[in-house]
Amino acid sequence: MKTAKRIETVKEYYFSKKLREIERLNAENRDIINLGIGSPDLPPNRKIIEALIDSVQNPNNHSYQSYRGIPELRNAISSWYKLTYNIDLDANSEVLPLLGSKEGVMHICMTYLNEGDEVLIPDPAYPTYAAATNLAGGKVVKYKLSEDNNWHPSIENIKSLITDKTKLIWINYPNMPTGQRANSAILKELLGLAKENNILVCNDNPYSLTLNDNPTSIFQIKGAKDIALELNSLSKSHNMAGWRLGWVSGKSDRINEILKFKSNMDSGMFLPIQHAAITALNLDKSCYHENNIIYAKRRKLIWKLLDILNCAYDKTQVGMFVWAKIPDEIIDSSIFSDLILYNANVFITPGIIFGKQGKQYLRISLCTKEEIIQKAIGRIERTKAELFIDKNISHISNKS
Ligand SMILES: Cc1ncc(COP(=O)(O)O)c(C=O)c1O
Repeated sequence: MKTAKRIETVKEYYFSKKLREIERLNAENRDIINLGIGSPDLPPNRKIIEALIDSVQNPNNHSYQSYRGIPELRNAISSWYKLTYNIDLDANSEVLPLLGSKEGVMHICMTYLNEGDEVLIPDPAYPTYAAATNLAGGKVVKYKLSEDNNWHPSIENIKSLITDKTKLIWINYPNMPTGQRANSAILKELLGLAKENNILVCNDNPYSLTLNDNPTSIFQIKGAKDIALELNSLSKSHNMAGWRLGWVSGKSDRINEILKFKSNMDSGMFLPIQHAAITALNLDKSCYHENNIIYAKRRKLIWKLLDILNCAYDKTQVGMFVWAKIPDEIIDSSIFSDLILYNANVFITPGIIFGKQGKQYLRISLCTKEEIIQKAIGRIERTKAELFIDKNISHISNKS
């Protein structure tokens, strides 16, 4: 069967392919330790699960739901925004619950892009921004984030990339994969530039509560609502990645435009999940604190593991990962990642999957228990000599 041309614009997701390889290695009894994926292993708060169970037992709670989500959920999102970022969002018109923020990326692209419209996307970045742009018929234009500029965009660089076809710009602070927080002066300039050129700014904000004392929203910048949208998610902050719960917020006109597309895609969110989300959003801040104590301990171990690998990293990073520079003598993070996988039976994400700017970097997830990270450290210590021998680099190149 011949697929549509749009399918040729995207590849199978890197992790989907890599997980198959890990499965194959595990079938050979390799017991691979996966430090790659940012799917929280900690459970959601007990109250969230109880709210789901209570609601699911009600025979009246199994029908199709409103495309906008129930008012109580939108109110809970609005109160959470006020409490978390001191931002007022109108619960009736400025919030749209989503089945995770990933689907929001697609909805935004499908709502705003015509064939050939250009979308500015950071390099490195979450690969979905480019995939959704391509699937919607847009053209990806990458703007560089580099360590020299603390992984912030250069306004001059962005100015030089804007054309009369530029329609959208994606930003993502706190940034994944680099772990940098937003710089409000730069974002202010960026929003000014976007306003001048009528470019919609989308901030993807799922990591603001992980190892971050100062959660920020794009809407804290004056006038941002006129030109920006923001995506949030309970996946990381509340350990609910599998539940598929997020939302987009912004001006009511934008929300209605996105709803036009979304209401043709799904038939609302399962009511018990909405009830559980309300409980999650009403939990007090101690729920993040408890997670963050665990993540902070794990991060110390990850730093130790990276020291053994002679990698360099910034200890002020926030979010659910550590982003680290590989030794200069290794020219490509995918080779280094494979060396570690095949020699030490530990999988670490190569930064190249997030873009060319990630070629010299690795990203390690904090979603693994301390004892398993300790085990990974032991394996890497034992095989360290193998990782830095040239013959291994050619051995891996042959294998991959
Ligand atoms: C930067 C970024 N945005 C969005 C997502 C998707 O999150 P969700 O589970 O809300 O779809 C991820 C998930 O890894 C991410 O890293």
